[in-house]
Amino acid sequence: MKINISHYGFMPDGKEVKLYSITNDNNVTLQLINLGATLQALYAPDKFGRISDITVGFDSLYGHLNFTDYQGKVVGRYANRIANGAFSLGDKNYQLTQNEKDKTCLHSAGEFSDAVWNAIVIDTNAVEFSYTSPDGTAGFDGNLTAKVTYSLTDDNRVVIAYSAVCDKDTVINFTNHVYFNLNGSAISDVLDHEMQMNASHYTPIDADSIPTGEIRAVEGTAFDFRTPCTIGKRINDNDEQLILAKGYDHNFCLDGKDGEADVTVKESVSGRKLEMFTDLPGVQLYTGNFLDGTVIGKGGMPIVKHAGFCLETQFYPDSPNQPNFPSCVFKAGEKFESTTMFRISVEK
Ligand code: BGC
Repeated sequence: MKINISHYGFMPDGKEVKLYSITNDNNVTLQLINLGATLQALYAPDKFGRISDITVGFDSLYGHLNFTDYQGKVVGRYANRIANGAFSLGDKNYQLTQNEKDKTCLHSAGEFSDAVWNAIVIDTNAVEFSYTSPDGTAGFDGNLTAKVTYSLTDDNRVVIAYSAVCDKDTVINFTNHVYFNLNGSAISDVLDHEMQMNASHYTPIDADSIPTGEIRAVEGTAFDFRTPCTIGKRINDNDEQLILAKGYDHNFCLDGKDGEADVTVKESVSGRKLEMFTDLPGVQLYTGNFLDGTVIGKGGMPIVKHAGFCLETQFYPDSPNQPNFPSCVFKAGEKFESTTMFRISVEK
């Protein structure tokens, strides 16, 4: 296991962004940058031993700063959407930045994703990022300090451990927004990737992508991935939910089966397999529906529609306004802690 640190770029205000590369004994390399505590790249061998980056994003800081759809970024303090950018906690009403359609608050308007985090190498296989968001940012209450530690193990696990604490009562929901393409970057889209997900329910959305409050069974729908199915097989079905989101962009309620991956994705040409494990109640399956090829990504390739899939582990979207969803409210001084793990392997 070895770690290498290099210069990645300078922010417009002169702050330096660094690249951290961790390589394990199987030639898997995890790359991170401290802008947005971003998972910059994950290089992994295919079934022939050929190594490719299996994430979609940008080679340079320029791409991250000008064209981002949160590629690889950590999102917080409240990942995903809050209806009308408004909620109340105790007897206080909050109006957040309405950065989507001048209406919804999406990904806390980049509160943590656009920040340059502090980074410390804590081991030959691990980097800890930390950032404090000042009271009032994007309309949230309280100074919130978050830590995200990434580590890579010799059995090809990428472990992302989040912790956060605020000095006032607040809502907390951290995720990572990495887009995977197991073929290796954006050579082709991910519609032929086969997905299996232990989720018996999902949360349908309205025209603003806000959950309606219903927790709907996946049985008999295009949302049933309990048995493996390619991402593309049903994505264009005449299903109101798929039409609203132009594909999958929905929260799945994870069944949390002990010892089993929550999600497994396989790509048969490369033989690569990705498993995801989390302790959070939900995951947003986003299939890059709003990517349209106008933005140039890694290797000079356009980032086309469905170029990658995201598995954004999370509390359900709009939880602060949905009393029947698991609570994302944390009292002043109460610690949010969560771990999501991705394991990469090959099947011949
Ligand atoms: C959302 C998508 C959005 C993407 C990039 C995802 O978490 O669900 O609707 O386009 O993030 O912001």
